[in-house]
Amino acid sequence: DRSIKIAPSILSADFANFGAEIRAIEAQGADWVHVDVMDGHFVPNLTFGAPAVKAFRSHVKTFMDVHLMISPVDQYIEAYAEAGADMITAHVEAGPHIHRTLQAIKAQGVKAGVVLNPGTPAEAVESVLDLCDMVLVMTVNPGFGGQKFIHSCVDKTRKIRQMIGDREIHIQIDGGITPETAPLVVEAGADVLVAGSAVFKGGSVDNPDVYGANMRAI
Ligand code: DX5
Ligand code: ZN
Repeated sequence: DRSIKIAPSILSADFANFGAEIRAIEAQGADWVHVDVMDGHFVPNLTFGAPAVKAFRSHVKTFMDVHLMISPVDQYIEAYAEAGADMITAHVEAGPHIHRTLQAIKAQGVKAGVVLNPGTPAEAVESVLDLCDMVLVMTVNPGFGGQKFIHSCVDKTRKIRQMIGDREIHIQIDGGITPETAPLVVEAGADVLVAGSAVFKGGSVDNPDVYGANMRAI
């Protein structure tokens, strides 16, 4: 299914109000809920771990994808699967054994995705595509919401879509997605758009219509 899906990143939500924020974005039409797990080591920021993700899960009715920006990864996969992730994505840069990591995710019975940073070439994921339900192309350096879209990642997205060929693999884009940048990546072959600041800006759980309008603008 290559229809375009919007996955708001709750990194830009009110951290004191996650349950209500998740319910609000879903009520306003979010297709997926994107959860950014950061460890203060692989990326220079720290967010939340598996117990928090499990608490988010109880509010998610759609599909929860958990973007692990952590290193090492493998010993935490079971905990995120048990927390209720529908999909777990792991960075190709997070360790020497991405193939093993993806196998471990699949072994938990959840969908698996591989992530590339802006500085990592498309070829880095070529050998693991058959283990993937999704490739996540980062269009900012991971760690923070609200950064500027890196345009060189558009051609890389196109290259990965060609590499995928007729296989049923999503391409998700994460970082700097706005009404201006979204068409560029969709044209290049992306079908799942993560958006943090562009969805949450100007709205709140008391004024959730803004979230809906922001999503429709993307
Ligand atoms: C960045 C995270 C993103 C982030 C995107 O490391 O992976 O999911 O929340 O935020 P925006 O859409 O504001 O660039
Ligand atoms: Zn993310």
